Order: sequence, then structure tokens, then C-alpha cells
Amino acid sequence: MRELGFHVDPVADEVSLDGIKVLSKKNRLYLLLNKPAGYLVTSSDPRGRPTVYELLGEVKDRVFPVGRLDRDTEGLLLFTNDGELAHRLAHPRYGLTKRYWALVSGAVNDRKIKKLLKGIRLEDGIARATDVKVLACESGHSEICLELTTGKKRQVRRMCMAIGHPVVRLRRTAFAGLSDDGLPCGQWRHLSSVEVHRLKSSKG
Ligand code: URA
Repeated sequence: MRELGFHVDPVADEVSLDGIKVLSKKNRLYLLLNKPAGYLVTSSDPRGRPTVYELLGEVKDRVFPVGRLDRDTEGLLLFTNDGELAHRLAHPRYGLTKRYWALVSGAVNDRKIKKLLKGIRLEDGIARATDVKVLACESGHSEICLELTTGKKRQVRRMCMAIGHPVVRLRRTAFAGLSDDGLPCGQWRHLSSVEVHRLKSSKG
């Protein structure tokens, strides 16, 4: 491309300068962040609130999140500059599995679990969990674990609210087979080549 002013998509394009690749598949980055609560998933905030990019400070290449987490949600967020993989993983048809741990108000009973599994009517459609477990129930709160294959905005919070158990704390503990084991909150790591290979070859 010799056109002046041509906009490069840093995620999807390969770029060469005088025959030398300056952005190639070799520069692909795959990072897994364990996001703390209070960080926005955006590159800048007009109100000056902290963003996830502050946690990726030493990463000099531009990377993009695959999906989103709310400001108050903790947990796993994948970043990459591999546009092909990012678009595929983020596509609803791909049905990526995400697991959440949630602390909710009240005691969640079997009837409520069945509702979550059967599907809750939200304003943008039906949302259902593919698996739900109650891990603990004490002092007026329940700890639950939910698996979802869809990614509607604030889906867990809205589903739990709809069954009368508002979320007090929410953490994504697994994303596309990647787990938060050994990754402290606020830290990130590169995916191993095996993990990247597994993501690329997974069928969703
Ligand atoms: N569901 C939510 O409600 N919030 C998130 O950040 C992710 C899933």
C-alpha cells in the first residue's frame, strides 16, 4: 500500500517498511490480566478513572481486550493484537465459555438455580447459564459459580438481579479454558505457546 494517509488496522494488518516487517504475526501478543475491581476496560477515560492499560504499563505494543468486564468486576481478561483470533473469540456464534464466581445477597435455592439454567428474560433477550453451583451460603449471602456461553452486557449482574439476588462481588475465574490459578489480582502474564495453540484450534 503506497497511499498516503492509509489507515492501518494494527490488529488485522501486516505492515512492512522497505520490505522489513514492522508488524507481523511474529509480534503477536496474547496476555492474560487478572483485573482488580475499579478499573475501566477502555484506553482512556474523560473522567480520569483508572483503566486496565495502567496495569499493562510495560506492554509497549497496542493490544485490545477480547470482550469486556464491568468496572467493578474482577477477573480474567484476554488482550491481544491478533485481530483474527480476537474477532473469532468475541463472536457470539463462537460461544466461548466463561466462568464467574459471584457473591450475591440472600440464600440461592434450587428453584432459583433452575431459573438461571432455564433462561431469564432480559430486555435484550433470553440469558441462560449453562451451569450453576451454590458454593456456600451464610450470613445472608450466597457464593455461586456460573458458566455462560453468551456475553451480554452486565449479564451476570442482570440475571442475578432478576431472580432477586443482587450481586455484591463478581469475579471471572475462567475464560475460554484459561483459569486464574497462580495469577494474582492486578497481575498479567503472557499465554504459553500451548495455550495460544489451544485457543486457535478450539472450535468454540
Ligand atoms: N457479567 C456482568 O454482569 N459483568 C461483567 O463484567 C461480566 C459478566
